[in-house]
Amino acid sequence: MSRPLTATVDLEAILSNYRYAKQLHPTCKAFAVVKSNAYGHGAVRVAQYLEGDADAFAVASIEEALELREAGIESPIMLLEGIFEPAEWELCAEQGFWTALENSMQLESLLTLGKPVEKVFVKLDSGMHRLGVNKETAAEYVQTLRDSGLVGEVLLMTHFACADDLADLTTMKQLAYFEQTRQLIGKVEASVANSAAIMKWSVPEGGWIRPGIMLYGISPFAEVSGVELGLKPAMTLTSKVISVRQVSTGDKVGYGLSYQAAADHQLLTVAVGYGDGYPRAADHGTPMLINGKPAELAGRVSMDMITAKRVTESSVPAAIGDEVVLWGNGVPVEKVAYWSGTIGYELVTRMTSRPHFVYQGEE
Ligand SMILES: Cc1ncc(COP(=O)(O)O)c(C=O)c1O
Repeated sequence: MSRPLTATVDLEAILSNYRYAKQLHPTCKAFAVVKSNAYGHGAVRVAQYLEGDADAFAVASIEEALELREAGIESPIMLLEGIFEPAEWELCAEQGFWTALENSMQLESLLTLGKPVEKVFVKLDSGMHRLGVNKETAAEYVQTLRDSGLVGEVLLMTHFACADDLADLTTMKQLAYFEQTRQLIGKVEASVANSAAIMKWSVPEGGWIRPGIMLYGISPFAEVSGVELGLKPAMTLTSKVISVRQVSTGDKVGYGLSYQAAADHQLLTVAVGYGDGYPRAADHGTPMLINGKPAELAGRVSMDMITAKRVTESSVPAAIGDEVVLWGNGVPVEKVAYWSGTIGYELVTRMTSRPHFVYQGEE
């Protein structure tokens, strides 16, 4: 191995987080949400590891679903946004994909195709106004699908806009609208809960939960880390110091010379940059560990490198080859995200293919 940037993914942690989600709702089945390359962790490797434990997988597109099938995943796979083109129904029927259904194109093209599909989740817009139909239309869709005889089971789903904000009443309002819709329909299985709702809201029991970010040990809440929620972080991003120099008080560093040394200190160049997924917006002071000791970003993030300094100068100088933890073990990704003006979801999901990926937990 040459460039020393490695994303180590702990598959056992992901399985353990999945089991934790199910423990919180023992009457529910759970999708393992592995869209967007399992939030940057590697969809095929994650799904292969969870296969046999996960009740089903959920992805955002038929391409993501087919990638899993081609890798040998036999469990049900759900398309969270449904089909984008009528021709996709043929593949759904053939491959046993389950789908969300949220518009008339999706409904009519299924009826026109006339082939049986296993499960359809009619998507209710309970207040987020991104996907879904209102309660009357949802009830009509459920009836039409049931009458068609083409669908093994018709379920009702919705998605929360603000479940990560425990002080916001929107989730309560969305749940109330969901219940009103269920009353219009009569007996129907439900799927409402993402990670935040699984961990902190009271959601309908039975049916399906849809944990995503929590599987990867990352918190959906701004004010608390995954570890504090009892989750096991799944990804640790590490690299090494590749160059060391001494800067003097007043020296400026990096593109734009945006960092200025307030005292004499060692400046350590580390092999990671925004070309790997490390956020360019990370501010001076973004935390990391160098040889297990607290360190921080000092200078603008480049495509392939960053510059850093140790928080406390030590009598033992840092050296080329010292290990750097950028996030994961000992450095919550949520903290790095905070310093970069974003959320943990985005940091892991936008990892590029440049880091070496190492999987722990496989035989
Ligand atoms: C419809 C749907 N369900 C579940 C999830 C998983 O959400 P989270 O990662 O917050 O658990 C997502 C993710 O965006 C989603 O779009």
